[in-house]
Amino acid sequence: MEQLRQRILADGRALSDRVLLVDSFLNHQVDPQLMRAVGEEFARRFAGDGVTRVVTIESSGIAPAVMTALQMGVPMVILKKSVSSILQDGILQTEVFSFTKNAPYQLTLKRQFVHPGDRVLLVDDFLANGEAAFGAIRLIEQAGAEVIGVGAVIAKMFQPGARRLREAGYRVEPLAPIRRMAEGVIEFE
Ligand code: G4P
Repeated sequence: MEQLRQRILADGRALSDRVLLVDSFLNHQVDPQLMRAVGEEFARRFAGDGVTRVVTIESSGIAPAVMTALQMGVPMVILKKSVSSILQDGILQTEVFSFTKNAPYQLTLKRQFVHPGDRVLLVDDFLANGEAAFGAIRLIEQAGAEVIGVGAVIAKMFQPGARRLREAGYRVEPLAPIRRMAEGVIEFE
């Protein structure tokens, strides 16, 4: 997706060979027009796949996911990283290890929002090691739904997430697949 690549080159900052700062349009401040274009692109790539729900992980996945769901005309469901005291009945949970935070957290889904037979498109802002995506997939499949694909706005292809997901049989669509980074350098596939 050329518009996204140009934006990453213009406003993103590779802090190291691992960490890309995109907080001016994706992670902190959000560019709604760019997110609308991202949603249109995911909707185009998964058109005809019978997607009935878009699922994401809070918080930075929400903007691209809601724009995708809007384009596809389906609901969007947010997997929560913490359980509120009022959210206790009918929930599914799985533990995810975050490499960036070096700590595990519980990913939570209320059963009533993903149904057996649902065809789910998982959308997230970053795909790195894939731990969050695999956790989300466990919850979606425990709910009896099928994962049609994983849409990543940015995928760091030099980290193992995209490969692991594909090896497990999941379709991965990265809009901006990054092949290599170094301080001040960003190279796309
Ligand atoms: P994994 O799920 O692929 O295994 O990745 P990891 O645990 O390493 O990533 C956890 C968090 O770090 C996620 O956000 C992910 O989006 C983000 N992340 C990973 N690599 C980068 C990067 O190069 N740049 C930026 N900006 N973020 C990255 P999160 O902690 O869940 O935060 P948020 O969704 O609430 O913003």
